[in-house]
Amino acid sequence: MTVGPLKVGIVYDAGSGDWDPKDVKAVLQNAKSVEKALRRGGHQTVLIPVRLADVQWLTKVQRCDAIFNLCEGVNGIARYEDYAVAALDLTRVPFTGCTSWTVTIAHRKHVANTLLTARGIPVPPFALMDRGTVPGHLKFPVIVKPSGEDASVGIDSGSVCTTKKALKERIAKVAGMWEDTLVQEYVPGREVNVGFVGSEMLPISEISFEKMPPGSWPIVTYAAKWDAGSPEDLGTVPMVPAPLSAELTRRVGLVARAAWRLIGQEKGYGRVDLRIAPDGQPYVLEVNPNPDISDDAGLSRMAAARGWDYPSLILRVLEEALERGARRREAEAQYLKLPV
Ligand SMILES: Nc1ncnc2c1ncn2[C@@H]1O[C@H](COP(=O)(O)OP(=O)(O)O)[C@@H](O)[C@H]1O
Ligand SMILES: [Mg+2]
Repeated sequence: MTVGPLKVGIVYDAGSGDWDPKDVKAVLQNAKSVEKALRRGGHQTVLIPVRLADVQWLTKVQRCDAIFNLCEGVNGIARYEDYAVAALDLTRVPFTGCTSWTVTIAHRKHVANTLLTARGIPVPPFALMDRGTVPGHLKFPVIVKPSGEDASVGIDSGSVCTTKKALKERIAKVAGMWEDTLVQEYVPGREVNVGFVGSEMLPISEISFEKMPPGSWPIVTYAAKWDAGSPEDLGTVPMVPAPLSAELTRRVGLVARAAWRLIGQEKGYGRVDLRIAPDGQPYVLEVNPNPDISDDAGLSRMAAARGWDYPSLILRVLEEALERGARRREAEAQYLKLPV
């Protein structure tokens, strides 16, 4: 599909007064790098901050030919991202990234895991917990995580529990801070990420834990993701493409694609996180809709391994949105008698 110059709105969370200036800067930097890539593709751009209780932004959206959605929340509240995407869906303006269904489901890990399990896609056994109760059917070690968060929020070296006592204390702690608490069997073994743009799978990435401080669990904690230079950051090294055998590449690809098809509907872009058990069975940890798409994030590294530089990734994501938008308009013209 060749695309003429368009007016593309870049939608992002305006944040709230108590935001760390570091976070504000990161969001704006991401918006600026996307803007630069779109302009290199010949498009005009307009930055559209999203705020709660002020729908002016939707009027601006309505004046654009397409939207690049970078909203990861509204006023810093992650679950309001679902509402922002649902509002975009109602405008009929083509927008990048996942649909409101996908974003809403994937942001509740217990709901996504239930669907994946029902489809026979391997997910480590899990339970949705209430304060203080310890599940009987799960084998130790287990990991405790907030079900409605992402970006390793609530995950540190104490998340993996090996005793009932430690688990009870951890559940009480996590349940006291977040709404739903997930307890899941811990899968030892390699960790891989599989990126998708529409139906296209990108080269697999692996996280090497070889340099983790001795004695710590090989997991991607909050510090590993956000505390640059910390021992956990230095101990989690991405490798793209992952040095997997042909057979493991095939097995991981099959499971990741099945998960992306079910939860992501192969629309927008996403990243499936998996662990490979020592017997070679890949398990889905989560499907991330609209993962970080800044120029130094995992998805950009995977795209680079596919031969797409950053502007090519951004333009490909836009193109996928336009193709999807056109298909939708055709369907609505047929069934709802709306103009194409
Ligand atoms: N069942 C599990 N077995 C082993 N490690 C896990 C498991 N669940 C989560 N982890 C570790 O915790 C990290 C964060 O968990 P994940 O489910 O991907 O949530 P988030 O949305 O915070 O990224 C993973 O990257 C992985 O290292
Ligand atoms: Mg993850």
